[in-house]
Amino acid sequence: MAKVGIFFGSSTGATREAAELLADEIKGAELIDMEEDFDGLDHFGEFDVLLIGSSTWGQGDPQRDWVDPLYELSNEQPDLGGKKVAFFGAGDQKTHGEHFVSALGKLHDLFTSLGAEAYGYTATEGFTYDFSLAEKGGKFCGLAFDNVNQEELTDVRISAWVSQLKAEMGL
Ligand SMILES: Cc1cc2nc3c(=O)[nH]c(=O)nc-3n(C[C@H](O)[C@H](O)[C@H](O)COP(=O)(O)O)c2cc1C
Repeated sequence: MAKVGIFFGSSTGATREAAELLADEIKGAELIDMEEDFDGLDHFGEFDVLLIGSSTWGQGDPQRDWVDPLYELSNEQPDLGGKKVAFFGAGDQKTHGEHFVSALGKLHDLFTSLGAEAYGYTATEGFTYDFSLAEKGGKFCGLAFDNVNQEELTDVRISAWVSQLKAEMGL
């Protein structure tokens, strides 16, 4: 069975809750809080499948617990070839529609540049925003959700995404 690691950074709990739901629904998946549990770049090497979670802050930036790991990844350029990766994270399409969930796009670009293969793209329908770095070829490069404006939709979005990942990745 593929080993699944759910690596997440979350400041107010939205992305953490999603990560915990994912862990409930994906058998054997391990949760790694980037603030408390992350052991360094080799930690990614322990898993076949990486689910990478981050909310978006500042001007489309990943959540703060990702800053150092992303810097190290860019510098050290480890080979992530053969790994399957998918991205998820909270944002706010109304107040921050100029960079809605853009962190997912930045994470996607870095992990795929290191050889990981991205799964779990989702439709942008149902969201209203001006711009997002997470939009690739008309889809989000992962699971976007918005607990500020559409909290009632988040659980359904997560469940649908889990079904999609199971089918796409053979989990
Ligand atoms: C100062 C500030 C900046 C933010 N910037 C963005 C942004 O650029 N894009 C976005 O989609 N959401 C942005 N947000 C919204 C957060 O991503 C949102 O509140 C999210 O639910 C936080 O998730 P977390 O609790 O997992 O960290 C911002 C929020 C604040 C307070």
